[in-house]
Amino acid sequence: MKIDAKSFFDGLGGVRRAMSLSDEARADALEEHLGAELDRAIAKVPDNAAGYPTMAELESEIETRNYRRGVGKLFAQAEPVKKLPPMPPRPTLRDFFELRFQPAHHLLQSAALALRKGMSEEIILACLLHDCGQAIVRTEHGWWAAQMYEPYVPARTAFAIRYHQALRFYPDSEADYAYPEIYYRLFGVDYTAPPHVEEIYRYVRRHKWYGDARAVTVNDLYSFDPNVTVTLDPFIDIIGRHFRQPKEGLGFDGSPVAHMWRTIASPDTPL
Ligand SMILES: [Fe+2]
Ligand SMILES: [Fe+2]
Repeated sequence: MKIDAKSFFDGLGGVRRAMSLSDEARADALEEHLGAELDRAIAKVPDNAAGYPTMAELESEIETRNYRRGVGKLFAQAEPVKKLPPMPPRPTLRDFFELRFQPAHHLLQSAALALRKGMSEEIILACLLHDCGQAIVRTEHGWWAAQMYEPYVPARTAFAIRYHQALRFYPDSEADYAYPEIYYRLFGVDYTAPPHVEEIYRYVRRHKWYGDARAVTVNDLYSFDPNVTVTLDPFIDIIGRHFRQPKEGLGFDGSPVAHMWRTIASPDTPL
């Protein structure tokens, strides 16, 4: 991806201010800038919030790219991908977070919010894991993530992860949840969810665990405060209590989803 130097330096408050930063801080800023540029390129996010695309406009852009919008985050990045650090022989969830899901600000921030609100540990865990499927593929990410976690987490946590995806299209004023502005940009301003999503919504709305899935959408924040660093540390005990870490390591326990973990561990494997 080509770097727009002017917009990069402008974002840092000018060239002089940028040069006063440490090399490390400047490298971090560049990485963040490129990430935002990629998100904008993939989502076609307009700078002007009023300039939402229509569905037809989004469709007309499909053949202008050499990737599809559903590509997983591990497989398409803003600049040439880096060699990944090797995984330990029996990788844990923490290893995946630290070596493959980083940066995971969105997940950590969502879980931190649920923790601050005093939500149940099952919900906090769901918030922490809810978008991990996007490492493999963005399309249907709730289902992908729920499937990869299902053998290891409480059933209601997997339920919340799977169905947050559909619930995100449906406001619930009682839960203080409004239709996300970013969806106008991602799906088009004239988008309405297709019938099968509507059907899923009706099913989840009546389900006894509706509140769990809804809680994930309520804590699903896209904003990130660069001055606040949320680490995995506050969640280690919750993971320990609710995540059934296989002793052979994720990817090597013979579970029906082990291949998904191996895919994330080794995304450079050609076949
Ligand atoms: Fe999501
Ligand atoms: Fe999310």
